[in-house]
Amino acid sequence: MAEEDDTSNQHSTPISTIVIIIAMQTEALPLVNAFNLTEDATSIFPEGTPWVRYHGTYKGLDVNIIWPGKDAVLGVDSVGTVSASLVTYAAVQALKPDLIINAGTAGGFKAKGACIGDVYVASEVAFHDRRIPIPVFDLYGVGLRRGCSTPNLVKELDFKVGKLSTGDSLDMTPQDEASILANDAVIKDMEGAAVGYVTDLLKVPAIFVKAVTDIVDGDRPTSEEFLQNLSAVTVALGKAVTRVVDYIAGKSHLEL
Ligand code: ADE
Repeated sequence: MAEEDDTSNQHSTPISTIVIIIAMQTEALPLVNAFNLTEDATSIFPEGTPWVRYHGTYKGLDVNIIWPGKDAVLGVDSVGTVSASLVTYAAVQALKPDLIINAGTAGGFKAKGACIGDVYVASEVAFHDRRIPIPVFDLYGVGLRRGCSTPNLVKELDFKVGKLSTGDSLDMTPQDEASILANDAVIKDMEGAAVGYVTDLLKVPAIFVKAVTDIVDGDRPTSEEFLQNLSAVTVALGKAVTRVVDYIAGKSHLEL
């Protein structure tokens, strides 16, 4: 009972610390500037990890942007589920946030109404590349998790809402496609369900905000369309996440 009271208290007090998990530096920088954050001079993370925290106060919120950094050998952004789950775990342990926002780009399905530049709040996240055809392990592989309930936020800010499917590839095999359809997803990314797994484990509410850079069921090669649209869509993502954070400032979970 005491635990229930604790949880309901947490949900009715104003949100104070937020962590925004973003996989690519290009996606993170517009928000670092919008919130006027500074990069930590001394890392809060284990020595040797490339993980980067940008931090500051914005509209009364303690705002942390966590970027998994660049691969030490290859020098590219550490995208994908492994880095995303590790930094989410480390950020929750170090910062004890009231809320996690996983922000990033995604591929969209035009058959389900997605267009380039659309910004979605994901109602659910699940994996599409963890096929384990044994009863119950199959469901474990799919790893369905719900985003936290934000009916007022999505209505007042007029976001599209849809299901997100996550896998470790930018492209899509026919098997991935079948699983994405089974997940009833409108967008696909490379981090969401991994962040969802960790936030569910550690009982931190999570919101998934994803902007569409490419149409997965269109005729253009995904990597070409993604790279062409990345910088423009990143601006749209930055504006959307700023609106989300503006909305959250001064509110409790129950008001979202
Ligand atoms: N991020 C942007 N576009 C994507 C796609 N098509 N698949 C996975 N992640 C993405």
